[in-house]
Amino acid sequence: MAKRRPVGEMLVSVQLGRVVQIDAEKVSRGTFFTTDDRWLNQPVKEFLSFAFLEQTSVGKTASVLDPFAGDGHLLEVLAETYGVETSGYDIAGGQWPVNDSLKKVPNPQGSVIVTNPPYLANHSAKRKGVNSIVASYFKQGYDNLWKLALDRCLASADYVVAILPETFLLSTFPKDRLAVISVIEGQLFDDTDAPALVACFGPASVSGAGSVFINERLIGSLARIMECRGKGGRRGKPAHFNIPDGRIGLRAVDGADGNTPIEFLLAEDFDYPRSRVKVSSRLMTYLELPTLTDAELPGFVIRANQLLNSIRVESHDLVLAPFKGNMKNGRRRRRLDYELAREIIARSLS
Ligand SMILES: C[S@@+](CC[C@H](N)C(=O)[O-])C[C@H]1O[C@@H](n2cnc3c(N)ncnc32)[C@H](O)[C@@H]1O
Repeated sequence: MAKRRPVGEMLVSVQLGRVVQIDAEKVSRGTFFTTDDRWLNQPVKEFLSFAFLEQTSVGKTASVLDPFAGDGHLLEVLAETYGVETSGYDIAGGQWPVNDSLKKVPNPQGSVIVTNPPYLANHSAKRKGVNSIVASYFKQGYDNLWKLALDRCLASADYVVAILPETFLLSTFPKDRLAVISVIEGQLFDDTDAPALVACFGPASVSGAGSVFINERLIGSLARIMECRGKGGRRGKPAHFNIPDGRIGLRAVDGADGNTPIEFLLAEDFDYPRSRVKVSSRLMTYLELPTLTDAELPGFVIRANQLLNSIRVESHDLVLAPFKGNMKNGRRRRRLDYELAREIIARSLS
């Protein structure tokens, strides 16, 4: 039976059995404070003004609740900007009433919720040795604490503004109440570089198409952006992935140098060691396309890269997952998941 690691021992090497000590309380509670105010940009401000107007139009006082309030920075900014009443909870107490907001968010005043909930993936909790603290939350079928937190907030307020990881966009979390999203370029937090966005939800009756902004620039509706992903290549199996002697290379992640973007390549032009390809490879790999002759491969590579690049331009990269910070040129690094890669391959073959 596997030995249970003491709380707060993070596994850094399975082979060597190496662990480092981490701050278990900080990690299990996702205590990363929002230190920059650029989340409160024009689209988010317009959404909040509308939400406050809805409150006052039915005789209520305009008010905001942060169920994961931390040092209260979000509430401070909102009180200054709008002069609204504010209240908060936090499991750590401090200046707020103690409440486990991953269980329930009491909201007797019907306040607008504005929050930055804890982010922690189930697999990270295990790797970081804090699983015993948070396991009960994951038992409910969520794979990340932010999803549970967001569900609790949406259950207790008509209007919710949440700072979330950018992976929210590609997640299966229900988006029917989504009105506005603003993807934030730049750092919102001092002590983590997690790419983030602000998601604004309304009651089902007023939520619209989910207008997507990058900072304050309108990009389009979420549905239209996601259409760029197509059907996920579910038309047969034109490609076999992670084949060490495959004739096509796939760099599925942007290089940090800014000169090696995601790209399909002829295997002979790809300098990734074939011996490093595993069944679990997700970033660099070789593929086999059994229906193509050798002579057809160069044309396929050109078409696949053209399609990939047009999808990147059309979706402003939002259909690709963010990956570990920015390139040297300041652009966010992205990763091509194999589902979208299959779609691109299928369309480039037909
Ligand atoms: C990401 S921080 C956000 C703090 C603040 N809203 C901000 O943006 O700076 C998350 C906060 O949620 C609190 N927290 C974590 N789990 C909680 C729970 N189950 N119930 C209530 N608060 C919790 C943490 O103590 C931490 O202060």
